[in-house]
Amino acid sequence: MKKKALIFGITGQDGAYLAKFLLKKNYIVHGVKRRSSSLNTQRVDDIYLDPHKKTNFFLHHGDLTDSLSVLKIIEKIKPDEIYNLGAQSHVGVSFDVPEYTANVTALGTLRILDAILTLRIQNKVKFYQAGTSEMFGASKPPQNEKTKFYPRSPYGIAKLYSHWITVNYREAYNIFACNGILFNHESPLRGETFVTRKIVMGLCKIFLEGEGKLYLGNLYAKRDWGHAEDYVKAMWKMLQAKQPKDYVISSGKQYTVKYFIDLVCEELGIKIFWKGKGLSEKAFWNDKNIISIDKRYFRPTEVNSLMGNSSKARKELKWTPKHNIRSLVKDMVTEEINRINKLSI
Ligand code: NAP
Ligand code: GDD
Repeated sequence: MKKKALIFGITGQDGAYLAKFLLKKNYIVHGVKRRSSSLNTQRVDDIYLDPHKKTNFFLHHGDLTDSLSVLKIIEKIKPDEIYNLGAQSHVGVSFDVPEYTANVTALGTLRILDAILTLRIQNKVKFYQAGTSEMFGASKPPQNEKTKFYPRSPYGIAKLYSHWITVNYREAYNIFACNGILFNHESPLRGETFVTRKIVMGLCKIFLEGEGKLYLGNLYAKRDWGHAEDYVKAMWKMLQAKQPKDYVISSGKQYTVKYFIDLVCEELGIKIFWKGKGLSEKAFWNDKNIISIDKRYFRPTEVNSLMGNSSKARKELKWTPKHNIRSLVKDMVTEEINRINKLSI
């Protein structure tokens, strides 16, 4: 019998990569999408077929803020594995919509876990919770499973609730539930307002189309960036392990936002130079100012330095990433150029 997976957050970056990975593993994949006024399924359109045809991929309307929909979907699908990737996942935006962020990103997890109990399937289903390095926040790197949590945003705090409610339901009700504590992971499918994709899109537009200028915030934040393709494999591996445990997933290397910009320029074969300091720091290309700082992109409290130690996952799950920072940048830039070329045909 084919295994059935249910993914909350199917329309996001990780949802798309995970669905494609599980379909290749011969799963039947069900995804929960929320209603929106314009189409939000672009990332999975390539695997979606008319449900009247033979397919292993299905979409259902639902919302993590709506307990009834969560319960009904789980009851209908009876999945073997549930992946909770659904979240208001933007750290900066979480300062603008803290209550909504808590509702989706914290209570959404409780709604799934409690539906599992209500339906009495706690011995049948495995649960993955998308935790984050943002929970470490102000704690010094390198961060691992034993590092103290010190979140610095409403998003990080909501995720910390999800982390502990997952641990609690595992201990109290014996649910096979795992927290993946994933460090930043990117890809050509990354949301356009996260810094890596914003930089790649912005610089491709400037260099290939001669258009626009990029406004950024803190150039000196350090992040541990990996590729989403590698990270979704770790999610699946956690649910195939003998025991349900929590794992840090990371590359173990960190770079500043400014260094990421330099790598993108290198990949595009362009030389830029930097002038000025603080809010007046600027980047130039052929004397043209192409990057400036805008303080609106600074956060009220910043996470300055993230770098994970994922040796537990590498040893116990035999997880090894294929990508490094350069192959990530290459993949993102290549796909962006392909997109621009397609648009101009
Ligand atoms: P993403 O692209 O922002 O995707 C988030 C998904 O959640 C989208 O499908 C979104 O739907 C859905 N969603 C939002 N609100 C919802 C609601 N009320 N009900 C149901 N679904 C809802 O995020 P991602 O980068 O793929 O990340 C996946 C998960 O991992 C998230 O939980 C994120 O917080 C966590 N995480 C990400 C990273 C990273 O670096 N990418 C690192 C650590 C943890 P729409 O498409 O309709 O908006
Ligand atoms: N988004 C954004 N936009 N960030 C900027 C900008 C800008 O214009 N300029 C500088 N930054 C800095 C942010 O202040 C932050 O320090 C860093 O770039 C990365 O920002 P994001 O790409 O928005 O990611 P994040 O690290 O805040 O959060 C992402 O990773 C988390 C894992 O650590 C998200 O995917 C979260 O959902 C995830 O949990």
